[in-house]
Amino acid sequence: MSDTETLSTMIRPTAVPEGSQTLLSRVRPVEAEVNPMFVERWSPRAFSDEPIPAETVRTLFEAARWAPSSANEQPWLFVYAVSPEDRARFAQGLAPMNRVWAERAPVLAFLFARSRFDQDGPFHGHANPTASFDAGAAWMSLALQAHLVGLSTHAMGGIEREEVHRLLGVPTTEFSAVIGIAIGHRAEPVALPEPYAAREGPSPRRPLSEMAQEGHFSASRKN
Ligand SMILES: Cc1cc2nc3c(=O)[nH]c(=O)nc-3n(C[C@H](O)[C@H](O)[C@H](O)COP(=O)(O)O)c2cc1C
Repeated sequence: MSDTETLSTMIRPTAVPEGSQTLLSRVRPVEAEVNPMFVERWSPRAFSDEPIPAETVRTLFEAARWAPSSANEQPWLFVYAVSPEDRARFAQGLAPMNRVWAERAPVLAFLFARSRFDQDGPFHGHANPTASFDAGAAWMSLALQAHLVGLSTHAMGGIEREEVHRLLGVPTTEFSAVIGIAIGHRAEPVALPEPYAAREGPSPRRPLSEMAQEGHFSASRKN
């Protein structure tokens, strides 16, 4: 793909005329050119029960596999559930506020971070201070790959961590549960209980100037 073609697929920060605004352009106006995948991905709570082919599930983890990590340690571990029996077991590891909607998703996963460097080398056996950060990079790769193949994902920090380790048999001596992940096709939020149905949709972001500052820190905030 040439540079011109790449740019033509970008979303530009131009004002969208009143009549032709979409929900996304209204709630998520961009402040600089960016690939649409970053803006169009959002985390629904309403999932359809349409199954995800095993090969598609593999593509998500394959994307995660290529995430960068400190010392190339790749400290992430995804354990996932597809069968109704496994999903019911995994759902027990979610906080009730998440279980109520996430148990419908056709794929549930938990992401763990390996606490100590495991690969041969000078760090072997030492605590890995960026393990969860690296696991987060793998999560984001998975989320974007899912979006690119028409799937949605929803990360959940609201999990019963000890219970997750117990239910899945993952030793706490080696790993720490980081998040749960619901994966599937987005559905209309009609079946969602309140307050979730009213909240369903893409969310806004802080201004660019508040999160990326050149040269000096500026504490100026709107609120
Ligand atoms: C680490 C992490 C933990 C999260 N925990 C929860 C959670 O427990 N329950 C939930 O409904 N959403 C959770 N979310 C989803 C966020 O609320 C959501 O990503 C954020 O509001 C931005 O919205 P978007 O993903 O639709 O762009 C979590 C997201 C992340 C990245």
